[in-house]
Amino acid sequence: MRLRNKPWAKPLIEANPQWVVTNPSEYRGKWQERFEKAQPLYIEVGMGKGRFIVEMAKKYPHYNFIGLEMQTVATGIALKKQLVEQLPNLQLVCANGAGLTEFFATDEVAGIYLNFSDPWPKNRQEKRRLTYKSFLAAYKEIMVADGQLEFKTDNRGLFEYSLASLNNFGMTFEKVWLDLHADEEAVVDNVMTEYEEKFSSKGQPIYKLAARF
Ligand SMILES: C[S@@+](CC[C@H](N)C(=O)[O-])C[C@H]1O[C@@H](n2cnc3c(N)ncnc32)[C@H](O)[C@@H]1O
Repeated sequence: MRLRNKPWAKPLIEANPQWVVTNPSEYRGKWQERFEKAQPLYIEVGMGKGRFIVEMAKKYPHYNFIGLEMQTVATGIALKKQLVEQLPNLQLVCANGAGLTEFFATDEVAGIYLNFSDPWPKNRQEKRRLTYKSFLAAYKEIMVADGQLEFKTDNRGLFEYSLASLNNFGMTFEKVWLDLHADEEAVVDNVMTEYEEKFSSKGQPIYKLAARF
C-alpha cells in the first residue's frame, strides 16, 4: 500500500518527537526509557494508519507498544490518533523494519504483530515479505525466547507462503485460523486493523497464525 503524499505529515512528525522516533538505532536496548513505565514491549511491523496498535495500547495499559511504519504519511495518520489519545504506553517509529536488529537489542521485545503485510507476490520480491526467513531471524534475535509472533492477512497466497516459511524456520504453531471471524471466542479478543475492517466487511475470510520460535 502506497499512500499519496501529504505535505503536513513530515512537519507533524518533526513537531512531535515525544511520540515518534525517526532515529530508532539510538534507543537500541533503551526503549523502556521512552515510556512512562517499564513493562513488556510489543511491536507491530507495518502498522499502516495505526488503528490496531492504538487500540491495543488502550486495551492493555500494562504493556508497552511500538508501531513501526516506513511510510511518512501512514505514520503521520497514526500520529494524529495518538495526539488525540496521548497514550503513555505507545510510541511510533518511522523506519524500515528491515533494520530491526539495529533498532532493538536481543530479548528486548515480548511479542511481534504483523497485520495485512504487503504480499509482494512476484518471486523476485520474496525477500521483502515480512515472513521471509531474514525477517524471521531478526524477530528471533530481538524477541524473548517464549515470545509470540502473530500474523493476520486476507491474502491466501501470502498466508500459505508464511506457513511454509515459519515451519521451515523451525517455528511452532500455537494456533492457525482459516476464518478468524468465524471463531466466536477469538473474535472477543480480536483487535481489528484498518485493512481487516475493509476486507472482512466484504465477506473475505481473515487468516491468522500465532507461532513461537
Ligand atoms: C497493507 S498495509 C497494512 C496496514 C495495517 N497493518 C493494517 O492492517 O491496516 C502494510 C503496511 O506495512 C508497511 N510496511 C511494509 N513493509 C514494511 C517494512 N519493511 N517496514 C515498515 N513498514 C512496512 C507499508 O508501508 C504499509 O503501510
